[in-house]
Amino acid sequence: MVIYLIGFMGSGKTFWAEKLSARLNLPWFDLDKLIEEQEGTDVREIFSVKGEEHFRQVEHALLKGISTSFNDPVGMQAILSCGGGTPCFHDNMDLMNASGKTVWLNPPVHILASRLTRDSGERPLLAGKKGEELENFISLKLDARRTWYEKAGVIINEPVPSLQGIINELAK
Ligand code: S3P
Repeated sequence: MVIYLIGFMGSGKTFWAEKLSARLNLPWFDLDKLIEEQEGTDVREIFSVKGEEHFRQVEHALLKGISTSFNDPVGMQAILSCGGGTPCFHDNMDLMNASGKTVWLNPPVHILASRLTRDSGERPLLAGKKGEELENFISLKLDARRTWYEKAGVIINEPVPSLQGIINELAK
């Protein structure tokens, strides 16, 4: 099975995926990177040239591929850091819950906003947004996505436990 890290942009999916992969000695894949490899260009370009719908189709197909490649029903076989929107399209949340364990990293809006202020350049959905506009956008989008995120098997709220704390949650 796959450990799927989900959550809003800036929630720490890449950070924790790297740590979990090293500690558990499991391969780590990043869904956005797989999409970029397959499409031969970056996420921003895919959104602007081929559109979000195309991006979501490729995202779903690659997710399906990962879920079937690591199909041991019990053992942890790989870590996948997803994109912020992955759970909300094409029944991806059900697919992930059926093939592994989903972990929702759920920092509050002000933490997301401060991280994304520093690091928004690559993200097409955030293009041009800053300050109050960025914070309002995050708040509305997070509320709209909550229904999917809440289906996660493990929910990590702030303050985030230690790496071992997260691993303990995974083992439950
Ligand atoms: C998206 C989040 C991004 C990337 C794309 C769309 C989203 O991933 O998949 O820009 O819809 O929230 P990160 O969460 O890794 O930034």
